[in-house]
Order: sequence, then C-alpha cells, then structure tokens
Amino acid sequence: MTKMIQRYPARTRLNHWAVALMFVCAGLSGLSIFHPALFFLSNLFGGGPWTRILHPFFGVLMVAGFLGLFFKMWRDNLWRDGDGAWVRHSPYLLKGDEVDMPPVGKYNAGQKLLFWVSGLCLVMLLVTGIAFWQPWFADFFPVPVRRVAVLLHATSAVALIMSIFVHIYAAIWVKGSIHAMVRGSVSVEWARRHHLLWFLEIDGKK
Ligand code: HEM
Repeated sequence: MTKMIQRYPARTRLNHWAVALMFVCAGLSGLSIFHPALFFLSNLFGGGPWTRILHPFFGVLMVAGFLGLFFKMWRDNLWRDGDGAWVRHSPYLLKGDEVDMPPVGKYNAGQKLLFWVSGLCLVMLLVTGIAFWQPWFADFFPVPVRRVAVLLHATSAVALIMSIFVHIYAAIWVKGSIHAMVRGSVSVEWARRHHLLWFLEIDGKK
C-alpha cells in the first residue's frame, strides 16, 4: 500500500477552497462589469445591479480568506538559499528534465513567487477597489484618484487571474498535488520527488 503523509489539515483545505470559490465569483462578476462583451456573465449573479453590488463583497471575502492562508504559510514562502538556483534551472524542468533541480522545502521558488505576487495583487485590488466602491467609500476620494484606482484595479485583476492560471496549471501538471489540497495527504514518493527537504524535515521529526 502507498505510504501517505499529511500536507494540509482540513481547516487549511477549507480555507483554500473558500478563497478559490471567492476568486471565481469575484473574477466572473468583475469581468462581467469590465466589458460589455462579457456582460452575459452577470446572469450568474442575478443580473447587472446585483453583480455590481455583490462583486466588492466577493473581493473582500477573498482577501479575508487569503489572510488566513497568508498567516499560515508566509514563513514557508520566505526566499532561501537554493531558490535562485531553482529559478535558474526551471527552464529544464519545463522541458521535463527534473534531474538536476536543486532540492526544495515545503514550497519551490515558483510557488513562492506566485504566493507573493498573488498577495500583492490582492492588496492592490483591495486598496484600489475601496477608492471607487459606491456608495460607501468613493466619495472620500477625488475623481482623478478614483480614475487611477480603476486602472490599477483592472491591471491587478489581470495579473492575479494570470497567476492563478499558472497556479492551476502547475497543480494539475504535478500529479498528486490536487490530492494534497483535496484529501490533505501526499505519497512519500511525491514528497521525496518534489519537496525533498520538506520530506526530510518531517521524517526527522518522526
Ligand atoms: C481555482 C482553482 C485552484 C486550484 C485548482 C488550486 C490548487 C491548489 C493545489 C493543488 C495546491 C497544493 C500545492 C502544493 O501543496 O504543492 C494549492 C496550494 C495553494 N493555493 Fe491554490 N488552487 C486554486 C486557487 C487558488 C487561489 C484563487 C488562491 C489565492 C488567491 C490560491 C492560493 C494557494 C496557496 C497560497 C497555496 C499554498 C502554496 C502553493 O502551493 O502555492 N489557490 N492550490
């Protein structure tokens, strides 16, 4: 039988999928009010006015949920010796040759970069979104500030959507990762192959 080890407890998985759900809701509702060609998406949220009302709340819930992940994971995402080497070797990994990849801890440098980029995008989305959130906060900000905020909001949204596409692609590509976030566990082989230093740390503790 395959020996499994725990990677994520239930509360972290619940937290993660709640953020993912809010990402989908905030993303689809945001796109529907971003361009007329995508307005049909507002049917998912009860029509135009409801989409407009709900979108900022989806966003705030996504940021609040991400904070939960952030406080749990930021330490494991700090840049360490070896991460630069991992980035330099990553073109080989993309070609399917992982033999010379430096060993990594709980997260590899690619995951770490995505973690910080998504966090930064979420902060930008929150701050800029508040600046033109009608009818609550927009009146506190002068019109030119609101205009710049709209531009930065859309830019951060595109950056976040692209980052999450990469995140999902990597999650599917590295077989066994989805199992980690759905069931909480990974096989010993998966841990040794993809996160050797993390595996050794856990094995050492045992
Ligand atoms: C919507 C579809 C999504 C899928 C299929 C997905 C899948 C996964 C999987 C499989 C992992 C485990 C990776 C590992 O342990 O090595 C993971 C981790 C993680 N996910 Fe997601 N995720 C999604 C959305 C999101 C969103 C929207 C965010 C945040 C905005 C997010 C943030 C994270 C973080 C911070 C981790 C831990 C660190 C990492 O692996 O990068 N995920 N996700």
